[in-house]
Amino acid sequence: MFKKMMLVAALCLSTNIMAASLADSHSERADCESCHKDKAPSADLAFENQQCISCHGEMKTLTGEAHAKHDGVVECTTCHIAHEEKAPADSCKDCH
Ligand code: HEC
Ligand code: HEC
Ligand code: HEC
Ligand code: HEC
Repeated sequence: MFKKMMLVAALCLSTNIMAASLADSHSERADCESCHKDKAPSADLAFENQQCISCHGEMKTLTGEAHAKHDGVVECTTCHIAHEEKAPADSCKDCH
């Protein structure tokens, strides 16, 4: 769990410009509670990742190699940083 949090922190340091962060684009459709229990993130983000899956489906059912190759290996929030304006493809170089 600590390792994962370090990774999330490391990923936050790289930069990229996108139209809006995920949380912003999602909050226009649904409120904070769609991802968070009581508007605050869980320590291990297990709740948040389960929310992603409940709306979008599991990794193996999503399109693209990035999803197919990481089913059961990394989680949604490892690549998709919800509150940063950052492209998920920026994460690849952190591990590969
Ligand atoms: C699309 C799902 C999603 C939505 C919608 C969302 N969050 Fe988050 N939030 C996350 C995730 C995942 C994290 C963990 C860090 C990250 O990935 O950015 C997080 C982190 C946080 C944090 C910890 C500090 C930080 O910025 O990392 C706070 C506080 C927070 N969210 C509050 C909110 C509030 C308030 C709203 C509604 C305005 C909201 N979130 C909407 C997914 C979401
Ligand atoms: C309440 C349902 C719901 C939850 C929870 C949710 N999403 Fe979404 N998400 C959507 C919808 C609806 C769209 C828009 C789909 C479309 O436009 O085809 C979307 C769009 C996206 C997109 C496309 C880019 C964008 O900003 O529109 C990504 C990437 C994404 N979600 C990832 C995530 C991740 C990662 C999580 C968990 C942190 C998550 N979603 C949680 C419903 C949800
Ligand atoms: C290994 C990194 C990685 C992981 C893990 C990951 N994604 Fe993605 N995701 C990407 C990349 C890269 C794209 C393409 C974005 C682009 O082209 O701008 C993407 C695109 C998307 C999109 C928009 C396009 C589409 O396929 O509909 C959604 C929604 C999405 N991801 C949801 C998720 C969810 C839900 C999870 C967890 C179950 C997840 N992703 C896990 C890297 C990842
Ligand atoms: C958190 C670390 C992490 C991130 C971020 C990450 N990967 Fe991976 N990736 C792995 C692990 C672990 C495996 C499974 C073990 C392996 O095959 O090396 C894997 C496997 C793969 C494979 C299959 C390798 C093979 O030999 O079949 C590909 C392709 C791949 N990743 C591409 C990407 C791309 C593209 C991105 C960015 C969208 C990305 N990865 C982001 C950790 C990561």
